Amino acid sequence: MDQRIAVLGAGNMGAALIGGMLKGGVAAPGQVVATVRSEERARAVSEKFGILTLAGENRRAVENADVVILSVKPGTLPKVLAEVREALHDRQVLVSLAAAVPIALIEQVAGKHLPIFRAMPNIPVVVEEGATAIACNPRCSVEHRQMVRSIFEAVGVAVFVDEELMHAVTALSGSGPAYVYMVIEAMIAGGLKMGLSREIATRLAEQTVLGAAKLVRETELHPAVLRDQVITPGGVTISAIHELERHGLRAMLISAIETATRHSEDRMRALLEKNRT
Ligand SMILES: NC(=O)c1ccc[n+]([C@@H]2O[C@H](COP(=O)([O-])OP(=O)(O)OC[C@H]3O[C@@H](n4cnc5c(N)ncnc54)[C@H](OP(=O)(O)O)[C@@H]3O)[C@@H](O)[C@H]2O)c1
Repeated sequence: MDQRIAVLGAGNMGAALIGGMLKGGVAAPGQVVATVRSEERARAVSEKFGILTLAGENRRAVENADVVILSVKPGTLPKVLAEVREALHDRQVLVSLAAAVPIALIEQVAGKHLPIFRAMPNIPVVVEEGATAIACNPRCSVEHRQMVRSIFEAVGVAVFVDEELMHAVTALSGSGPAYVYMVIEAMIAGGLKMGLSREIATRLAEQTVLGAAKLVRETELHPAVLRDQVITPGGVTISAIHELERHGLRAMLISAIETATRHSEDRMRALLEKNRT
């Protein structure tokens, strides 16, 4: 890719994306410029990636960019967009990572007709195993879509969805790592309770989750089929599954995703309300 990329807000997510793009060969260090708020963070990002990193100079970063990635917090996004709007032009592509911020609001604040993507990555992008869902407005061409897909494929898996499904995506994969960490944490605790050392319980629990996920992907079998393959009649696994069913593990996760989806919708409404006035 020969585009120049500006990442506004190189925090956790922005920096992870920069790391993945450089490592995956999507961009060379000379093609990427980042911005942050503080001088201290600017120095750290610059040293880590060998890229130009500016403290607060969003407009300067945008002026020479072909792709502008907005990775500031959702509440800061309208302010940063307003700051750079005069430097935006119609050959640029905007990619927003901000949770709950609709493309319509970005269009409104940018005040320009640009190709705009809204992406929801998740934190495993740090280890290039992220899951990213992407939505876009009708100005995005097939070439734009391929280019943006390649950015997120450098840090994991990327899929396109209709924008109205971004709330469900946020609830499933955006927040999802937190649910899985709770499962891993509880499995470790179970191992500890039954006498395994912390080190061994941790190793076994993390690899079990990693391996089970890999098997779902590689076999393409329904998880219920894979689960049944682990069960022997009258065996150990079915006694554990009975306990999990008794405590409603699956219903709990379904409800968690439903509640988080509604919460994301409420956040979007609050954000729209705030920006109406
Ligand atoms: N973390 C996740 O799991 C995740 C998942 C999906 C989507 N997202 C989205 O990604 C975005 C970033 O989240 P994050 O977790 O990476 O947040 P973060 O770590 O707090 O990063 C935000 C960055 O924005 C910088 N910043 C703040 N004000 C700025 C300004 N006026 N100009 C330029 N830079 C500014 C901050 O600089 P300083 O470091 O100098 O303060 C910081 O580096 C959010 O919109 C979030 O919704 C995050």
